[in-house]
Amino acid sequence: MKEQIPAIQTEALARIATAADERSLDDVRVAVLGKKGTLTLVAAGMKDVPKEDKAEVGQLLNAARTTITAAFEEKLRALQELTDRAALAGIDVTLPARIVSAGVLHPLTQIRDEAIGILRRMGFALADGPEIEDEFHCFDALNTPADHPARNEKDTFYFDSGKLLRTHTSSVQIRTMETATPPVRIIAPGSAYRRDEIDATHLSVFNQLEGLYVAGDVSLPDLKGTLEYFLHELFGPQTEVRFRPHFFPFTEPSFEIDVKLTVKGQAPRWIEVAGCGMVDPAVFESIHNNRKDNAFNPEQVTGFAFGMGLDRLAMIRWGIKDIRLLIENDVRFLKQFA
Ligand code: PHE
Repeated sequence: MKEQIPAIQTEALARIATAADERSLDDVRVAVLGKKGTLTLVAAGMKDVPKEDKAEVGQLLNAARTTITAAFEEKLRALQELTDRAALAGIDVTLPARIVSAGVLHPLTQIRDEAIGILRRMGFALADGPEIEDEFHCFDALNTPADHPARNEKDTFYFDSGKLLRTHTSSVQIRTMETATPPVRIIAPGSAYRRDEIDATHLSVFNQLEGLYVAGDVSLPDLKGTLEYFLHELFGPQTEVRFRPHFFPFTEPSFEIDVKLTVKGQAPRWIEVAGCGMVDPAVFESIHNNRKDNAFNPEQVTGFAFGMGLDRLAMIRWGIKDIRLLIENDVRFLKQFA
């Protein structure tokens, strides 16, 4: 047995050295070290070795196993390296990697999330309503009579069913007041649709964010303070904001809010970003008449509402000259918002 071990080792090392691929190398491993391998069988014969030789034979065996295993592992590494090199043949590993671009949120999404963030910190909760509205929620309940120009076919997208694409998110005011109890403080971001002539500042679909605050003692200074604070948070405290008297059927008094837009290389100009006003008692009256409780009794509640154009806010934030850029999905444009 003492002679067998060196013989097995010599043969194993020779076969390992000449193995041409990983498969024949593994065959050698199985033939020598496997369950029925030559060295394993010798080890099984240990029990028949006379006591006085056991230590010596044991050492021989261990040394042989260590040497063979080490030779096997080294050869395996060498063969794997060869395989890797073959796989890389013809590939220039010094070429720069291809850049995978991670993408960015659309500027409208960014400004919407930011606007929501500011208003939520002020205590407004999110509300929602359908984009396909009925005339009641879009117009009648908002004190907008049948002969109001907004209801004209030329200004609004109607379905044959009589429903329409909402012309503003103000319909969410009504839907909220139908079920909520004051104090109500909600914001509703969403799309609005109008048959507008498309130009640099108008699209037939745009994004609004409606707000409504109703409680026992809401006043005009609350409205002004809230919206000025909001716009200063969004654009910085230096931003110039102006309230222009206006008319909306559902608010009285009403205003349009302009923010001064400064684009490099252009003269500064005022751009309208929102409509707002104190909720007209006629709106509360109609809610009140349709509810069984006294929650929106026009004698007991006051409120303000506003609706702003998120597209316009994005244009001011980033000095975007043409609103159409926001819907064209041109990567050269969108990439700039990373
Ligand atoms: N709904 C108005 C519009 O779309 C904006 C507005 C909302 C005005 C709420 C006053 C109060 O132009």
